[in-house]
Amino acid sequence: MSEQSTGLLGWIDARFPLSKMMREHLSEYYAPKNFNFWYFFGSLALLVLVIQILSGIFLTMHYKPDAELAFASVEHIMRDVNWGWLIRYMHSTGASFFFIVVYLHMFRGLMYGSFKHPRELIWLFGMLIYVALMAEAFMGYLLPWGNMSYWGAQVIINLFNTIPFVGEAISEWIRGDFVISDATLNRFFSLHVIAVPLALLGLIVGHILALHEVGSNNPDGVEIKKTKGADGIPLDGIPFHPYYTVKDILGSVVFLAIFAFVIFFMPEMNGYFLEHANFDPANALNTPDHIAPIWYFTPFYTVLRAIPDPFLGFMMMAMAIVVLFLLPWIDRNPIKSIRYRSTLFKVNLIIFVITFIILGYLGLKPVTDLYSQLALRFTELYFLFFFVLWAYSKPRSGGFWIGSFIVLLVGITAYDFLVNSSEQPDLIWKTWVIPAAYLFITLLLPQFTNWDAEKQVPERVTS
Ligand code: HEM
Repeated sequence: MSEQSTGLLGWIDARFPLSKMMREHLSEYYAPKNFNFWYFFGSLALLVLVIQILSGIFLTMHYKPDAELAFASVEHIMRDVNWGWLIRYMHSTGASFFFIVVYLHMFRGLMYGSFKHPRELIWLFGMLIYVALMAEAFMGYLLPWGNMSYWGAQVIINLFNTIPFVGEAISEWIRGDFVISDATLNRFFSLHVIAVPLALLGLIVGHILALHEVGSNNPDGVEIKKTKGADGIPLDGIPFHPYYTVKDILGSVVFLAIFAFVIFFMPEMNGYFLEHANFDPANALNTPDHIAPIWYFTPFYTVLRAIPDPFLGFMMMAMAIVVLFLLPWIDRNPIKSIRYRSTLFKVNLIIFVITFIILGYLGLKPVTDLYSQLALRFTELYFLFFFVLWAYSKPRSGGFWIGSFIVLLVGITAYDFLVNSSEQPDLIWKTWVIPAAYLFITLLLPQFTNWDAEKQVPERVTS
């Protein structure tokens, strides 16, 4: 590939670095030999992005961003436009699949420590992408102008009201009106179809350039750029093309088969992908029985609802996202991959995943005494995960572990005495067991077992 190109390619290469870019990012981009299943999701995220952009372009040809016409225009797409139903279901299913793929992609990062030195910036770009994706999905959700679109946006925008002094002004500024109206729909349309996608594209380019600068991590944590042969080629690497282009094509085919199955047989996914209340037009006088955001937002929605004070709840919800940005500085353990980390790390990560899923489930449920207590307990677990991750970043004394156990448990119990209330007070004590058991398992138990022992790591595995 490195020889001088001729013909059309030569003409282009003399004016634009096409072959050079192909070499740098594909045929001479060396990736670790040992990518596994979890390494499908970056390329799948790119595939879903393309699906969303293409289906979005065709939807925009028929959609009307007008409060009087929006709902009917979506019905028109579904019933009258040739293949309109397919395009719309591709877009609505694509939104949920985007989050499934991105959550799995992020989980891979957690498992293999891909956010650690020297990949902090890849992670930060990733987190910015995640926040932009949430904004994109939130604004897209208003566009069909269904009743859940309307009331969901109402609830989320009203969250800003809880900010002292300036909250109401901020909500009004976002809506462009005193209530959610045509003005809100218009600006959300503009942001959804152009502003946020442009930002997303820019961030994704940054994400991949940062990745190609430092090279990919892998399930063993080998830094392939550190060990090169006499020819300058990493000993533990293979060219991305053709090896991983073929692997990613296989992943894409399987993914598309699953994606098509959902589109053709269960596009509403029983109200999780397209909510039932959204089949009624927006109505400011008719609140749906139970307003819940769409599934990918519900873990954070539960954190918001777990705290009785609205502003504090809002801050905790924001913190739940901010803390993810800080991960590279929270987990400083030099061992990257879960393969060589302690049993405790594995247990902690499994509990975190279960906690995230339970938080998501609770966010879909109406508020009851039991659910509110559980929301609080699993919110506590969500944040404790990061404390434990930080604590095990380096060896610490027995006093540190016992002291942390006591301080955290006293803090949680004090909150129960001073703030936590329930119509069934025994629920408070029954659910208190959840964080207490977690703290016991993660902070005290390893002092009497070898749970915190990390495995011997092969030389190339530490950073
Ligand atoms: C539109 C969304 C996204 C796209 C298109 C995307 C794309 C990619 C691609 C193509 C790769 C290389 C292939 C792979 O490692 O699977 C990658 C790697 C990576 N991504 Fe993303 N990504 C997205 C979102 C995110 C998010 C939300 C995070 C985390 C907050 C993230 C964190 C990472 C990390 C840490 C790596 C390096 C992984 C490693 O080397 O082990 N990405 N991304």
